Amino acid sequence: MASANHRLAAFFLAVIVSSLASSPGAAWDVKLEIDDGMPLIHMLRPLLSSAAGNLARRRNSNYGVPCDSWRFAVETNTIRDWATIPASCEEYVGNYMLGGHYRRDSRAVVDEAIAYAEGLELAGEGKEVWVFDVDETTLSNLPYYAKHGFGVEPYNWSTFGAYVEESSAPALPETMRLYERLKELGIKPVILTGRREDKREATAKNLASVGYTGYHMLLLKPQDVKLHSVEFKSGERKKLEDAGYVIVGNIGDQWTDLLGEPEGARTFKLPDPMYYVA
Ligand SMILES: *[C@@H]1O[C@H](CO)[C@@H](O)[C@H](O)[C@H]1NC(C)=O
Repeated sequence: MASANHRLAAFFLAVIVSSLASSPGAAWDVKLEIDDGMPLIHMLRPLLSSAAGNLARRRNSNYGVPCDSWRFAVETNTIRDWATIPASCEEYVGNYMLGGHYRRDSRAVVDEAIAYAEGLELAGEGKEVWVFDVDETTLSNLPYYAKHGFGVEPYNWSTFGAYVEESSAPALPETMRLYERLKELGIKPVILTGRREDKREATAKNLASVGYTGYHMLLLKPQDVKLHSVEFKSGERKKLEDAGYVIVGNIGDQWTDLLGEPEGARTFKLPDPMYYVA
């Protein structure tokens, strides 16, 4: 696990260094300031906005209020069914993902999940399970998305599928921390992914190689069945409950991981501003 963390940290560092080295002079049309004439809600706002603006001017890139607002709307499942991130937000999303912000947001979610799990009273029959998604939850596909515009390019099942077959994705270290803690507490991890059955071997190999061992089940989507994510994942959770398991927690980066009865006693939404799964 330590080596997986180091691999991810080394990867982040490498991408940050290479992006600094080749700082693109890309067109960047996001406005820094709130439109003139828009009534102020509170004097704090211009202070915050100007602090962000100063940072942006120093970096010569408009570190953007609009992209931040877009991310907020995406994370709250307000903006839905988007195929790609706004082209003008590529640098913003890249900075978010590779800088400390993504990791800090992930840590806040996992801290809350661990505190919740530690407060649970287990029945002692070994029936409590916690559902984990795979992509951008247990595993991080940043090595792939950093090469594909952080979600600017439309999803390409053939290139992403080839990447999955490499079984090379690092763990998201925050999720690993939750995973380990749950095992210590006696809550069984169940891994539930929208990846198809033909990716079972590659997925299991990848999970094992970064240290996700001892999970109770690995559930993948059937190969040739057309099933929306919510339908598939809530259906699998229903089967778990029908088999006598108690889903005490459920964590994923997509709303489709978390919506649809039975959701699990508590759901935890990890950040993902790079793609949307319908
Ligand atoms: C996916 O990527 C491959 C390889 O780069 C390319 O040939 C193909 O046209 C892409 N497919 C789509 C739908 O963009």
